[in-house]
Amino acid sequence: MSDGGRGTAVDLRLDRAHPARIYDFLLGGRTHFAADREAARRVLSAFPPAAAAARINRAFTHRAARHLAREGMGQFLDIGTGIPTSPNLHETVQAVRPDARVVYTDNDPVVLAHAAALLHGRPEGRTAYVQADVTDPAAVLGAPGLRETLDLGRPVALVLVALLHFVPDDGCDRAHAAVEELKAAVPSGSTLTATHATREFAPAAMARVAEVYQRAGTPFQLRTEAAFRRFFDGWELLEPGVTLTHRWRPDRPGDALRATSAEAACYAATARKP
Ligand SMILES: C[S@@+](CC[C@H](N)C(=O)[O-])C[C@H]1O[C@@H](n2cnc3c(N)ncnc32)[C@H](O)[C@@H]1O
Repeated sequence: MSDGGRGTAVDLRLDRAHPARIYDFLLGGRTHFAADREAARRVLSAFPPAAAAARINRAFTHRAARHLAREGMGQFLDIGTGIPTSPNLHETVQAVRPDARVVYTDNDPVVLAHAAALLHGRPEGRTAYVQADVTDPAAVLGAPGLRETLDLGRPVALVLVALLHFVPDDGCDRAHAAVEELKAAVPSGSTLTATHATREFAPAAMARVAEVYQRAGTPFQLRTEAAFRRFFDGWELLEPGVTLTHRWRPDRPGDALRATSAEAACYAATARKP
């Protein structure tokens, strides 16, 4: 398993809440500790649909990835992977294209500690895990695990789901700069799939959620639809364009009606590089 060349010493920091473990708790997983559960309960008290929003977000990822695999995409770079949760991305895309290759990246040592579960792909395909931060695209793109798995001369599906709201602007717009660097590194035909929390449908509740994360030591930046759209600048949005996670190509027409925009609380889109 590649760890991006940064060494394998893992400090799990069980004493403080981690976004990956809070999210795992919300999804009903088993990889969380007291500090994570405490923060997750505060998130739920601030925003009761948080667990549903996490499931809706995850379901979006699989619909989008399946769609891209069916359209012929065979290489995926998933940044901000989270703690393995079946089905993982490679299970979804390799069910369509057994030879699909998936590189997972996260900056959280907890994800690294569980990454082995991400590496049992189909024999025809390939998966790898790279420990790196999205704000350092050169480290992600230059990691031996990525270079051995993906051919950056061929189209790559960039998957940045429920990640970018953890990258604050800090006055220098690091999130947009990082995404632009990733977009520049992949060829025409590549895609960008992203979701992002917003305060636009449940302003008071989402402001409280941001506060819970910030108090737990994790920056959390809500962005507007306009700021979310900017991540896709210069690329062609696939139908239905920028929408909420539950509304992006629902499997059945009625599915989009099972949640409200205030419950989903996350923008979603996929775009292709011309
Ligand atoms: C809410 S989880 C989303 C997991 C998965 N993408 C999904 O949507 O099901 C966010 C993940 O992003 C990771 N993350 C947060 N900031 C990051 C950064 N700067 N670089 C890489 N990963 C980051 C967290 O560790 C966590 O695993």
